[in-house]
Amino acid sequence: MPTLTLTAAMCQAFDEELQRDDRVCLFGEDVGEFGGVFGTARALQKKYGKRRVFDTPLSEAAIIGAAVGAAMSGLRPVAEIMYVDFITVGMDPLVNQAAKLRYMSGGQLTLPLVIFTQCGGGTSEAAQHSQSLEAWFVHTPGLKVVMPATVYDAKGLLKASIRDDNPVIFIWHKLLYNLEEEVPDGPWLVPLGQAAVRRPGTDLTVVATSLMVHRAMAAAEKLAGEMSIEVVDPRTLVPLDVDAILASVAKTGRLLVVHEAPVSGGIGGEIVRQVAEKAFDRLIAPPVVLGGANLPMPFTQVLETACMPQQEDIVRAARKIVTCKKQSHWTEKEKARLLDDAVRYIIPHFASNESLARGPKIFVRGEGCYVWDLDGKKYFDSFATLLTTICGHNRPEVTRAVTEQMETLEFFPNYVDTFTVPLVELARKLAQIMPGELSVSFFVNSGSEANETALKMARQYHVERGERHRFKFIGRRDSYHATTLGGSSVTGLTWFREYFEPLLPGCIFAPAARDYERPQGMTSADYGKQCLEELEKLIVFEDPRTIAAMIMDPLPGSNTGYPLPPEGYLEGVRRMCDRHGMLLIFDEVQTGFGKTGKWFFSEHYGVVPDIMTIGKGFTGGFIPLGAAVTTPKIADMFRKRPGSELRSGSTYGGHTVACAATLANIAIIERENLVEHAAEMGAYLQVKLRALAAKHAMVGQVRGIGLLWAILLAADRATGKPLDPELGVGTWIQKWCYENGMILRNNGEILVLAPSLIVTQEEIDMVVDLMDRALAAATLEFKL
Ligand SMILES: Cc1ncc(COP(=O)(O)O)c(C=O)c1O
Repeated sequence: MPTLTLTAAMCQAFDEELQRDDRVCLFGEDVGEFGGVFGTARALQKKYGKRRVFDTPLSEAAIIGAAVGAAMSGLRPVAEIMYVDFITVGMDPLVNQAAKLRYMSGGQLTLPLVIFTQCGGGTSEAAQHSQSLEAWFVHTPGLKVVMPATVYDAKGLLKASIRDDNPVIFIWHKLLYNLEEEVPDGPWLVPLGQAAVRRPGTDLTVVATSLMVHRAMAAAEKLAGEMSIEVVDPRTLVPLDVDAILASVAKTGRLLVVHEAPVSGGIGGEIVRQVAEKAFDRLIAPPVVLGGANLPMPFTQVLETACMPQQEDIVRAARKIVTCKKQSHWTEKEKARLLDDAVRYIIPHFASNESLARGPKIFVRGEGCYVWDLDGKKYFDSFATLLTTICGHNRPEVTRAVTEQMETLEFFPNYVDTFTVPLVELARKLAQIMPGELSVSFFVNSGSEANETALKMARQYHVERGERHRFKFIGRRDSYHATTLGGSSVTGLTWFREYFEPLLPGCIFAPAARDYERPQGMTSADYGKQCLEELEKLIVFEDPRTIAAMIMDPLPGSNTGYPLPPEGYLEGVRRMCDRHGMLLIFDEVQTGFGKTGKWFFSEHYGVVPDIMTIGKGFTGGFIPLGAAVTTPKIADMFRKRPGSELRSGSTYGGHTVACAATLANIAIIERENLVEHAAEMGAYLQVKLRALAAKHAMVGQVRGIGLLWAILLAADRATGKPLDPELGVGTWIQKWCYENGMILRNNGEILVLAPSLIVTQEEIDMVVDLMDRALAAATLEFKL
């Protein structure tokens, strides 16, 4: 890629536009023969002649007046005003004429003109050659105002300004004169009104203009270990990309605007106004504007420097904002009452009295991968809110979809013969993304109900085929499927079953088939065969003619730390089910929707079940929804005649608003390529976790795939001897992480890292660093 300076890029922009459109002309003081005092019109007069590129008298009023006349009569003039300070002499044609003519002529006139000028201090040119006057023009309806900060933008925005049918004030900063950048070959445009996020971040939004973008970037880099700053460059002040600023503030909750113009009455005040009006509830600290001093620019360099925001000023302001304590909406008394009532009036799901004894936790806000508690403390959620928030918290796209649906038709049931539009659209979408022939959905409210339905589907399918005697289910040891009694019957974990027995008759359990348990010296493929032989024996023993289906999580979940299957195992199970006329149900409630780096885990093996159950990430956590998705062949059994219908249903299954939210969630996954992103970030996380394991003796194993990972602690890595559970090391680490700002899920000594699909490399670094410190602290604490 070629390297260009900012001025050369703008010269190229003029060249390309003069070439493209012979209505474009360029004039100003020393623009013709000399090629512009900053070289932005070098050699253009020679190339395009004196009628199109020419010098003017030293009269800004005449220059701007001529430009307005030329634009009114059909040309597309660019008038250079050498210093923005000189524009005052031409304010009447600019403000009273150019800005208003389109409006006053009822749209009959267009005013395609560009005032091309430079601004700013830093070169000791004193009070009349160093000003930043953009706010004047922002305050004049009818003018557009452009302030580029990069070489790429300078060229692209200038070309877009020349093509715009409105008067545009294009202001570049004289200290960017020598800025060099690699830019792509060929021409490009940068549309007016689109901000650029120069650096992503989560703790503070810095909106900076022109030269200040560079200072904000340097400050963000300097503070990188301390806080995560998002730098937003609006690029154009009119039109202002308020949505981009609001989206950033919604994520960070904090705003700092930096501009060089005097702080009073500047664009910063306007940005803060808009944020305060539209996103007040998002702010967790008062917004701040850092601008130039309210003084004429001094000549002396030291004083000039003191009047312009410097990198250190931004660093100082950022620290002050980020350490500012969140304004809590609740008084201490209200907080205490909420915490008391939480335990008084609610039985939490799978409650832990031990944890509750340490105090309940109430969360009040979420953004991206983060949540905030009642005290305003921020946490990175490494368990993606119980494995649901695929595309993070608080996505305006989903909020919009839900609001629109609420306002249109909040709910109509999917009952007997009624459907809603989002329901049908979601079913159609699922048919596209589900593997193989899986294309017919039965919608429910949760993963548990999805599995419950899958079991019912399997039984009734065999009834419809005249094989009512097939009533048994094969589940797998250590797998979790549902909280309902039917689903608990095929759940292979004693803790979930023991108080509710007797459960469904005819539920039998196969071993879990985990590749890491394969005997030393045996290949994965041989171990896969051995597991299949055991399964075959079990089926034969039970009599295959009595078995309706096998239900399994192809990748067992967080409870057992994501053990991968041995080679050939899933393929073998598929063949075995077919051979014995049993249905195969894959529970991908936890592993679906990109978490393993493919839409569904089973796609890594090319194995398609007869029924797949989905939940959790399916909706992105926004509103509950689940589904059992099957093939037309099976579904047709239930629609072949009156009386063959599937006998299952609930009031809210396939809720209208939940479908709208889920469609929006899937649209984000697709638009942001989150499945590919998960694969990429997963590979990065894997490398980092392997390095972490090598560093800490207490890490026995690290395993997983995509963005589902488990760290398994052990007393002896070589032998795999477990830690004494009485020590409670896993829980101690979980508590340590919580105190240090990270939500971690642990099942005893299995620590789970399964963040949202939007997780960034920086966030992974932060998570692994925290884990590193947690493991080091545990080693000391337990003298391991
Ligand atoms: C593999 C698996 N299946 C089913 C479920 C049940 O889903 P839900 O809690 O939405 O009912 C879960 C929940 O953790 C799960 O992990």
